[in-house]
Amino acid sequence: MKNRFLLLLTVVFLLFSCKKSIQPEVYIEHIEKGNSVSSVAQAALLTKVAAAIETGGPAYAVEFCSLKASGITDSLNSVFNCTISRVSAKNRNMENSLASATDKQLWAIFENGTVADTVIQQGKNLVYYKPIRTAMPACLKCHGAPGTEIDSITVQKLQTLYPNDLAIGYKLNDFRGLWKIEFSAP
Ligand code: HEC
Repeated sequence: MKNRFLLLLTVVFLLFSCKKSIQPEVYIEHIEKGNSVSSVAQAALLTKVAAAIETGGPAYAVEFCSLKASGITDSLNSVFNCTISRVSAKNRNMENSLASATDKQLWAIFENGTVADTVIQQGKNLVYYKPIRTAMPACLKCHGAPGTEIDSITVQKLQTLYPNDLAIGYKLNDFRGLWKIEFSAP
């Protein structure tokens, strides 16, 4: 308990000291950019996944939930000069783990649910983070309870493609992951 409190204190301090070095107008600009990039990426992904479920069911659609496979990131990355990813402590794709210490610190903050989104400075780059929730019942077709919400064909497909899958057992509106959008310094 005490340890958790100390961790939170450290994190809040870190965030505060990071934020201080970003000019307020630059901070706001990147909150806005991050917010629009993540909304566009989210909407594009949802459209593709919904269409694929319609075509061939969730097992078929599994491949369309990848940012890379969708090609969505490529176009947005070049327009906004950024690198889009999604990370999670309970990740499905190994590449989407919490890679840096900062990822882990921010995860702890967002888990407490007090912040909507944020921008932090990392070296010369600015990084935008925003929580992702299993906000739609459709998310549970691939992230819910195996065997019931996730049908057995999809369970098999997921096990084949992602043998170390941690991204199951979610309920509606659970904290699922973070958008992480890195803006390169001009
Ligand atoms: C058709 C199945 C399917 C549906 C529906 C689905 N996902 Fe996923 N999700 C996946 C797959 C497969 C991956 C791994 C993608 C990859 O390899 O990059 C994934 C990855 C993710 C990730 C990245 C972190 C990780 O675990 O690798 C997040 C965040 C995520 N999904 C959130 C959602 C949310 C929120 C919804 C509902 C709006 C949703 N997903 C609906 C199959 C699905």
